[in-house]
Amino acid sequence: VSPEIGQMLEAHELLRKFYHHLLVNTKDGQHALEYLLNRGFTMESIDKFQIGYSLNSWDFVYKFLTKRKFPEEVIEKAGLIIRREKDGQFFDRFRDRIMFPIFDRNGQTIAFSGRSLGANEPKYLNSPETVIFNKSKILYNFHLARPHIKKFQQAILFEGFADVIAADRAGVENGVATMGTSLTDEHVSALKRNVQSITICYDSDHAGIEAAQRAGEMLSAAGCQIRVALMPDGMDPDDYIKEFGKEKFRKEVIDASVTFMAFKLLYYRRGKRLHDEGDRLLYIEEVLAEISKLDNAVEKDHYLRQLANEFSLSLEALNEQQRQVSFAEK
Ligand code: GTP
Ligand code: MN
Ligand code: MN
Ligand code: MN
Ligand code: MN
Repeated sequence: VSPEIGQMLEAHELLRKFYHHLLVNTKDGQHALEYLLNRGFTMESIDKFQIGYSLNSWDFVYKFLTKRKFPEEVIEKAGLIIRREKDGQFFDRFRDRIMFPIFDRNGQTIAFSGRSLGANEPKYLNSPETVIFNKSKILYNFHLARPHIKKFQQAILFEGFADVIAADRAGVENGVATMGTSLTDEHVSALKRNVQSITICYDSDHAGIEAAQRAGEMLSAAGCQIRVALMPDGMDPDDYIKEFGKEKFRKEVIDASVTFMAFKLLYYRRGKRLHDEGDRLLYIEEVLAEISKLDNAVEKDHYLRQLANEFSLSLEALNEQQRQVSFAEK
């Protein structure tokens, strides 16, 4: 580790502790703490995830770190302060935000994500890419989740930090999330190295459903067994747990997850009126294309029969069609 990287890590460590202290012990952080408690965060998870608060100040971090002999350039490279173009003045990146430390797989703090308290944009502000923080590699909570992932041979993939933390409170401790970006090949291989079975539990809105479809395809292609956990329209796991409780989340969302194939069938049904001939034929075509991608003959047969039954079609015709689709794709 170069001296510069050592200093960056140390700066993050100091700030993580100080942000946490500001949130839980000071009057300045009181409104932020109330916001979190109102949202259903508990003191236990605030402590476990080392959540903090950054002061509403332009130069708190600058002074805090330079006073402790950290060079300006190092603090800037670490993404904690920003140099203003016009006069070269430094100011703090994170101000008046809830601070979520981002840990690497060894539990070292390498970045922050700050959530605004009100409607201020952006909702989440992340540290920039630095020599110690690579967004496309990091999975939030991987360091704490890994032993649980190993133990249950199962990982849950969420969209946001709030979801990982709410799920943890509900006893689901094998959850991770990307940093607000879509899943990358690096994330896929990091997961693949540790686990075979992955349950995708993204937000139940248009963006989340599209993203779940893409993440599922990537992970399946890498050879993972995928299930998808579903929630009522428009909800995310954090909303769900706040509204319906921990037990219902475990039983009716996580344990009730469906196979990726079943999820895709639901996905193709969305927005179609299956009593309409055009929509129905399109749906059948889409499903046949999915069936033709399966490499398990028993599974193929299962879904072909299901399709034949639902639309009163002959199995022979579907089989024939499926072979043609599969031939055309090769
Ligand atoms: P809450 O509103 O606090 O419950 O967050 P959420 O996790 O439900 O947020 P949302 O579903 O909107 O987004 C999912 C994830 O995308 C978040 O956890 C962030 O990592 C990321 N994200 C959301 N909004 C922003 C943003 O404005 N900027 C960046 N960089 N990332 C964002
Ligand atoms: Mn504490
Ligand atoms: Mn979302
Ligand atoms: Mn969400
Ligand atoms: Mn949310």
